[in-house]
This record gives sequence, C-alpha cells and structure tokens, in this order.
Amino acid sequence: MVERSLVLIKPDAVERNLIGKILTIYEDNDLKIVDMKLTKVSRELAEAHYIEHKGRDYYENLIAYITRSAVVAVVLEGEDAIAQVRRLNGKTNPAEAEEGTVRRLYGLATNQNSVHASDSPENAQREIGIWFPGK
Ligand code: CDP
Ligand code: MG
Repeated sequence: MVERSLVLIKPDAVERNLIGKILTIYEDNDLKIVDMKLTKVSRELAEAHYIEHKGRDYYENLIAYITRSAVVAVVLEGEDAIAQVRRLNGKTNPAEAEEGTVRRLYGLATNQNSVHASDSPENAQREIGIWFPGK
C-alpha cells in the first residue's frame, strides 16, 4: 500500500552537514520526497510531536535536543513507506542498528540518533498534520 511517513533529520545530523547523504538513502530506496522544510523547532511543536514521551526520564533532554538547532522535516511517500523508512533508519540505539542504516552510519548515541520516522499510519497522519498543517 502506498503510504506517507514523516521523517525528521535531527539537529545532530543537520549540524554535521548530513542532510544530503541521508536524503540519498531514502531516494535510492524508491521513496519520494513530497514535502520538505528546514526549520528551527519551537518548544510547543516539539512537545506536540513527542507527546507520547511526556513524563519519561529522557523527555526534557529530548525536547532540548530537538529544539537546539534546525531540523529538516520531510514527507516521504512510497510502497509501505512507514515500515520501509523505519527499516532504513535502524534501531533507536545506533550501536544496535543494522549495518548500512542511517542511525548506524551517522547516529552518535540513543539521545542523538540523527533521524525520526513515524511508527504507524495514525502517527504518520498526526505528525504530518503537525509539521505541515493544512496538507
Ligand atoms: O525514534 P524511535 O521511535 O526509534 O524511538 P522512541 O523509543 O520512540 O524514542 C523517541 C526518541 O527519544 C528517540 O529517537 C531518541 O531521540 C529519544 N530517546 C532518548 O533520548 N533516550 C531513550 N532512552 C529513549 C529515546
Ligand atoms: Mg518512536
């Protein structure tokens, strides 16, 4: 099924000039960029995006990280896009992520793991609505 997924290239990756290398991985895997923007995230937007994580011990650190400098928000479209992008990104902890995945290649640690991707059709729709309102 053709799906859409919301990806974030997080501050650690934007800061290290990795936008192009990461987008290439998605494009080389038949995912189409259908919307994209570079933006500094407000605390309000960060909290809306990570609402499911509120109260976790890493939450404040996560909000500080995602708001510290610019991110690239991308909507990717393709066959089974949600699972495909999660597979290409790799596990949350870069040290556990498979060879060739974005997080294995570029992630620094669990709390600086370079990318986000939607984990379900419901969250993809919710996240696309947050980052690209009206689309
Ligand atoms: O991003 P993903 O869905 O793989 O992981 P998550 O468990 O939903 O956590 C969301 C984000 O919170 C992660 O990508 C990390 O940036 C951060 N996190 C963290 O800093 N420390 C943890 N112990 C767990 C998550
Ligand atoms: Mg998650």
